[in-house]
Amino acid sequence: MAIREIRKKDDEILRKVCKEVKDFDKKLWILLDDMYDTMKKADGVGLAAPQVGILKRVVVIDIGDGRIELINPRIVSQSGSQNGAEGCLSFPGLFGEVERPNIVTVEAQDRHGTVFQKTGEELLARAFCHELDHLDGKVFVDRVTKFLEN
Ligand code: CO
Repeated sequence: MAIREIRKKDDEILRKVCKEVKDFDKKLWILLDDMYDTMKKADGVGLAAPQVGILKRVVVIDIGDGRIELINPRIVSQSGSQNGAEGCLSFPGLFGEVERPNIVTVEAQDRHGTVFQKTGEELLARAFCHELDHLDGKVFVDRVTKFLEN
């Protein structure tokens, strides 16, 4: 386990499209464990691999209900909408209102390559959308409708 450096703001790696994971091996498991520890230490609820400089389609999320690992995730359904404050470990101190769907179902693989689906509402739906955006080089500031004072 190790804490990795979180890439910030203008780092161009945050704007790149990540590659599909093909090897579900020890290297991936170490990345997942390091990402989780890095996210927890930074007091975050989600982290995507490009935020630690790795251009792979890997996400970890924990909104307080336990650890969720998403490999090669994609959104398979979404409904409703929510408007709320959002932030990002790559943009410390910056918060803004972002509209997201209220219910989101993702399909992904776990650390062994097994495909599963998970549905999230409200904060978890927001986290799915925010973290999956990172895998396509999109960051939340692009979607902010109003920046908030902190
Ligand atoms: Co983020």
